[in-house]
Amino acid sequence: MQEVSTPQFDESKLNQFVGRMLGDVGAVANGVLTHIGDRLGFYKALMKLGSADAKAVAAETGTSERMVREWLSAQAAQGYIDYDQETDRFSLSPEKAMVFADENSPVYMAGFFDIACAVFRDEPKITESFKSGRGLGWNERNPCLFCGTARFFRTTYKHHLINEWLPALNGVATKLESGGIVADVGCGHGISTIIMAQAFPNAHFHGYDAHPPSIDAARQAAAEAGVSDRVSFDVALAKDFPARSFDLVCFFDCLHDLGDPVGAAAHVREAVAPDGSWMIVEPFSHDHLADNLNPIGAIYYAASTMICTPASLAQEVGLALGAQAGETKLRGVAADGGFEHFRRVAETPFNMVFEARREAFT
Ligand SMILES: C[S@@+](CC[C@H](N)C(=O)[O-])C[C@H]1O[C@@H](n2cnc3c(N)ncnc32)[C@H](O)[C@@H]1O
Repeated sequence: MQEVSTPQFDESKLNQFVGRMLGDVGAVANGVLTHIGDRLGFYKALMKLGSADAKAVAAETGTSERMVREWLSAQAAQGYIDYDQETDRFSLSPEKAMVFADENSPVYMAGFFDIACAVFRDEPKITESFKSGRGLGWNERNPCLFCGTARFFRTTYKHHLINEWLPALNGVATKLESGGIVADVGCGHGISTIIMAQAFPNAHFHGYDAHPPSIDAARQAAAEAGVSDRVSFDVALAKDFPARSFDLVCFFDCLHDLGDPVGAAAHVREAVAPDGSWMIVEPFSHDHLADNLNPIGAIYYAASTMICTPASLAQEVGLALGAQAGETKLRGVAADGGFEHFRRVAETPFNMVFEARREAFT
């Protein structure tokens, strides 16, 4: 009988990695439950009730007590909610409530789990695009992806766009205070457009996106926010939206999704006023892979592989910058589109913000 040789391995390294993997497996398993808890209002119920048992959470949310009991146990084991053995009750600490239940908190992240569920549902299509290389258009995705994107990015836009990013652009905030006209390209559900419109009541805003259902959702959101008189939303491509001598053109987390970002940059150069600004908000990334091997990079490379890269490959040119393109490549896109001025004006752990202008400052 042939002897089977056991590969040499370091037992402590193995134990360490298996331990880490078990944590990740628990997080993935609880990912679907987090999405369900978000949809059914369990986190908000826990925030409201303070400390509660399954019966109280089920009564508050109109759900099955037995199912809720199991959900609460799973989430307590994952450490997403807290359990008190003495009282046999569950609660959400203030910090966890900020992440899962309070939509106004700067770290509210429940929307991410919409995105996670959408990519699981789209797995067969994503796998197919690995084989074909044809890509997967935004219009072919599970609808959960669109509302998840809107909910996830809303947190950052709400807390950084008006107070930090716009004031960092050259003279833009002052212009918008007295009027001005803004294009929000690849606007999705119009979250960023509406936040800007609410902050600058004298300015006019035009949101454009290639995806008709997102434009419908954006129009509805604008009506609900009471800003429809100054905010319009239309289906248009980043390369062909109307050129109206905009004071500001914004691309929120969409430049790298485009098939032809250089073509879009060239179009923006025609669409923006001679002294106007192009604000490009992109996922935070360093230029080199080795510098992106961290938790944020893990999220973004995964999203890039399953969402952004196939989205770009499905369009003409199919440049597929990827969500971790880095500043040097993005600067190159702006320069190839004819922009002479490009600078980083702000960043958060999740985003980098650039300003491009037609001419270099003298
Ligand atoms: C990741 S989402 C970002 C949406 C929104 N800007 C936000 O930050 O929530 C990318 C958006 O780009 C849009 N998009 C993709 N390719 C486009 C193109 N060629 N022209 C216009 N919009 C495009 C998609 O429909 C999608 O709404």
